[in-house]
Amino acid sequence: MFLLYWIGSVLLIGGMILSANALNLSPGWVVIPALIIIGLLIWKQINSSKPSINSIYRRIPDKSNHTPTVIPLGQDDLIQSSKAGLVVGKVKATPSADGLSDVETLRSRAQQNIQEGAITESYNADRFTINKLLNDALATETVCVLRYRRHHFMARGIHAKSIAAEFLAHSIEEQGHADQIAERIVQLGGEPDFSPDTLSQRSHAEYASGSSLTDMIKENLIAERIAIDSYREFIQYLGDKDSTTSQILKNILAVEEKHADELADMLTDIPAPTS
Ligand SMILES: [Fe+2]
Ligand SMILES: [Fe+2]
Repeated sequence: MFLLYWIGSVLLIGGMILSANALNLSPGWVVIPALIIIGLLIWKQINSSKPSINSIYRRIPDKSNHTPTVIPLGQDDLIQSSKAGLVVGKVKATPSADGLSDVETLRSRAQQNIQEGAITESYNADRFTINKLLNDALATETVCVLRYRRHHFMARGIHAKSIAAEFLAHSIEEQGHADQIAERIVQLGGEPDFSPDTLSQRSHAEYASGSSLTDMIKENLIAERIAIDSYREFIQYLGDKDSTTSQILKNILAVEEKHADELADMLTDIPAPTS
């Protein structure tokens, strides 16, 4: 296209030179208009090398009624787009009034950073903090597994058989909680910390060996109550930022409450030691 402009301009300037010679005009009548024409041509060519508005903006087709989001892809738009909450080079649509994205937006977002697995563009929670809290919960569950196991094997006395069986059942369930938490940590891109060196320091509950059956029940009850409080706080912290983690914790919390209830029942069933 520009070649034609240049050829046309050369012919025009040539014609002007011939006309100027024929009319005996001074060179200024040709040189100044020729410089203006050449300047305009250069200016036009430089501007055309920049991406057009259609090429630097990608419009996301929108089948709903809300305005389609324009995603700036040019470097110049980086600051403005980040201020506007848009992600340069990524697909992030403004949801409609009902908070739902259209099908094409969902499909486009899913193709971004596929190595993140379950974590998609719409995940807005602080993964670092959540993984840290999950690892604390993992340590707590692991310590609970070990404590219940010890109590299962060490339970003695007339009531020991059924209570030892309960301790074992709780230990197995705590292990299940630990596994769920470890799995979620990995889903969030973290690593479950099973290091025995720091386990007891990171655990909310203590590893209390317990000398009598009553002591064991009390220690386990205290540990369950600690776990219940910490899970409640964790769930409150999450709010609606990470519904999957929140749901996992709610399920675990329900089991911890059942454990605490059962341990409280055990305490009432065992007569207090006579002094
Ligand atoms: Fe648990
Ligand atoms: Fe428990």
